[in-house]
Amino acid sequence: MVEERGILLDIVLEREPTRSSEVFYNPAMRTDRDISAAVLGVYARRCGEALRVGDVLAGTGIRGLRYAREVPQVDRVVLNDANPQAVAKIRQHLLLNRCPPERFQVEQRNAHAFLATFMGHFHVLDLDPYGSFIPFLDMAVQSLRRGGLLGLVATDLAVPFGVYPETSLRRYGVVSVRTSFSYEAMLRIYLRAVVEACARHDRAYVPWITFYERHHVRLMGVVLNDAQQATWQRKRMGFIWHCPRCDWRQMDEDSGLGPSSGSGGWGECPLCGGSVRAIGPLWLGELGQQEVVEEALAWLQERGYGEAARLVERLRDEIPLPLPYYDTHALAQRLKTDPPNLRRLIRRLRAQGFQAVRSHCCPEGLKTDAPYDVLCHLVRGEA
Ligand SMILES: C[S@@+](CC[C@H](N)C(=O)[O-])C[C@H]1O[C@@H](n2cnc3c(N)ncnc32)[C@H](O)[C@@H]1O
Ligand SMILES: [Zn+2]
Repeated sequence: MVEERGILLDIVLEREPTRSSEVFYNPAMRTDRDISAAVLGVYARRCGEALRVGDVLAGTGIRGLRYAREVPQVDRVVLNDANPQAVAKIRQHLLLNRCPPERFQVEQRNAHAFLATFMGHFHVLDLDPYGSFIPFLDMAVQSLRRGGLLGLVATDLAVPFGVYPETSLRRYGVVSVRTSFSYEAMLRIYLRAVVEACARHDRAYVPWITFYERHHVRLMGVVLNDAQQATWQRKRMGFIWHCPRCDWRQMDEDSGLGPSSGSGGWGECPLCGGSVRAIGPLWLGELGQQEVVEEALAWLQERGYGEAARLVERLRDEIPLPLPYYDTHALAQRLKTDPPNLRRLIRRLRAQGFQAVRSHCCPEGLKTDAPYDVLCHLVRGEA
């Protein structure tokens, strides 16, 4: 028996849960589920209606059960899984946790059939697949109610991270590239895919929270039936010009430059004269909404969900800084100096009037609006 935030699960923990597990449960996703419940709580307060939630790929049912227990405005949860063993477990877990039957419904359908059956029904759709959410994305976008909240998980991180550039081009329409800020590029590749999918259906995706944690990426955002805003959102797509030699980078929203289907070599680095490449097209807008993240943070702190709160706190600080993080260790290596003390470096940048925060993506990651040469100067001085 396993317990997660007061929900009992009749599961034997495996060291490495995989898709061949009889019923999939990963305890390492608890922080993700904490944050998801918090963001759902924010949505519930703003929406003001009794919510219907679809847990499309439910596994043990842990997400849906937690949402119903932790967010009182959730009126009804429909838990779906194609695997009959998962469905049996979900039913068992509903009984085990004395869940009131009028608040829950269990379905055993292929996700596409489920989304088609419940077209326009759900205020919230949550999709936590094996690998990529792409196979379900267009259907989910169409199935969600107007102004609904869409939650997605991706675990095929190696693809947008730059390990499989051709798969990335096929799946996400972007040639992924290994850089010193690959974790953030990965978030922006996923975001682009979601914004584009929504735009195809005259809907606008407004990211509420996007983050990387251990082996997965989580995206939650509101989908508006607003073609005009969808057009505007697409203008937040663009390229990041990056010099692999010295790590200089610059964002280039909606420039129309660069190859439309991927990254390539183009231009000269203004700092070192090296060859600059265009990475993208990527989502260059915010990773989330600061007020939403702030509210979610308060929700997590009230409940003492410490690890989740720490991650969300970092995210909140990052949102106003769009330029991808610098890997300060890699930067120091390039400058042939010792890795800087990040806390001190942040203090010094702020003392000079720049914004500077840690990135949630990697422990050495620094996000700042300081010009690159100022940063290099300080890193040299920090050693
Ligand atoms: C990663 S697990 C879900 C984990 C669960 N949401 C949690 O938080 O623990 C993915 C689930 O999707 C189900 N699944 C995979 N492909 C599916 C499909 N096409 N339609 C419906 N369910 C599917 C699997 O049986 C599995 O239980
Ligand atoms: Zn350069």
